[in-house]
Amino acid sequence: MQKFERALVIGASSGIGRAIAGQLLKEGASVALVARRQEAMAELAAGFPGKAFVYPHDVTDYAKTPALFQQITHDLGGLDLIVYASGLMPTIEENEYSFQKDREMIEVNLLGAVAWLDEAAMRFERTKSGTIVGISSVAGERGRRGNPVYGSSKAALTSFLESLRNRLSRYGIHVVTIKPGFIDTDMVRGKPGLFWLISAEVAAKQILHAAKRGTNIAYVPARWRLVSCVLKSIPSFLFRRLPV
Ligand SMILES: NC(=O)c1ccc[n+]([C@@H]2O[C@H](COP(=O)([O-])OP(=O)(O)OC[C@H]3O[C@@H](n4cnc5c(N)ncnc54)[C@H](OP(=O)(O)O)[C@@H]3O)[C@@H](O)[C@H]2O)c1
Repeated sequence: MQKFERALVIGASSGIGRAIAGQLLKEGASVALVARRQEAMAELAAGFPGKAFVYPHDVTDYAKTPALFQQITHDLGGLDLIVYASGLMPTIEENEYSFQKDREMIEVNLLGAVAWLDEAAMRFERTKSGTIVGISSVAGERGRRGNPVYGSSKAALTSFLESLRNRLSRYGIHVVTIKPGFIDTDMVRGKPGLFWLISAEVAAKQILHAAKRGTNIAYVPARWRLVSCVLKSIPSFLFRRLPV
């Protein structure tokens, strides 16, 4: 099992990313926290003086990513782990087609991940070590009626992470794809049809366990692997009738 001493978490101001950052800090790691809400990150960082570093940033400011990545690795004195947890899932009505919402999801869920993880891939390939974690979703495994572009952004993220793994594993670098089911965060709170909800803290523990073991794909919690197998086996003519 690997131990992470210097970690970067993007999407660290709330939910799963915040819980992962909090757990890494409790384990004694130095952690760079990245998201737009500075106050929320500063509140977490205040409990870990000298260990937590706050960098307010919008992941759609792609031009700023390379310099910020360099600054962070310099401030941390290196990097063992990067977690991309930033994500958006606006409510989409049954007959709604909003290019603006769709574009935002692609920009945050996919392009932001590519901007940050390309930087990490280049660095880790050079140093021949490191772990990359991307938070994808079970929602990316079929084309659902409910939120077409959220699922598409996660399907593309899953595919991007697999490509990174296929490029980087020869250098001893682990690329871990996380596929959560329902996690009790701001993103899903109050939405209908939730079941098997677990807290962000429980999810963070399972995600870090998978990262330390260098697992390729981890469902969180694990029972979603079975759900996913069932969903994938439903023929298209039946799947389109499901209210998901
Ligand atoms: N909750 C679930 O059931 C569930 C299930 C499957 C997958 N996921 C995935 O898990 C990840 C974390 O989501 P969550 O459930 O923890 O939701 P959350 O509490 O809403 O957290 C979303 C995070 O994304 C950040 N973010 C959003 N837009 C951003 C932007 N433009 N620039 C920088 N950061 C941005 C937010 O920070 P700021 O607003 O401060 O920028 C926040 O830290 C997401 O990728 C989500 O798709 C969640």
